[in-house]
Amino acid sequence: MPAPHGLSIGYLAERTGLAVSAIRYYEAQGLLEPWRNAGGQRRFHRADIRRLSFIMIAQKFGFTLPEIREQLQSLPNKRTPTKDDWSRLSAGFRSHLDARIATLEKLRDDLDGCIGCGCLSLPTCALYNAEDRAAKKGQGPRYLMGDRPET
Ligand code: FES
Repeated sequence: MPAPHGLSIGYLAERTGLAVSAIRYYEAQGLLEPWRNAGGQRRFHRADIRRLSFIMIAQKFGFTLPEIREQLQSLPNKRTPTKDDWSRLSAGFRSHLDARIATLEKLRDDLDGCIGCGCLSLPTCALYNAEDRAAKKGQGPRYLMGDRPET
């Protein structure tokens, strides 16, 4: 059950550093489930501070809101999530995070060379992506996205 009075959206904005409009947007996206008090005002759970912090961090890592929503769905919405609930979410999130970290490390290490984007503008492109062969694998910077040049 929610705390008797709950938190106002203004307090939540002040506490998290998010704009009220951003919190409303997350609510509209199904990431938060406030309730209405007798006066019809939105009221939030104290645990929503942590939920919003998780959303902010996950977005910084490049996760989309649908991906974040999927992760948050493992948390209970009728009671305050416990440490075990967050541990379960963390375990499920870890493999997604590892994959994202691997991509970021690759970006860091390979950004000065050919990334298979189709530009053919670096001298190395002629070696790694001759005649834009990466285009056969799909759109985008194929070698950064995990495809390897044909040998
Ligand atoms: S860097 Fe664009 S195709 Fe090589």
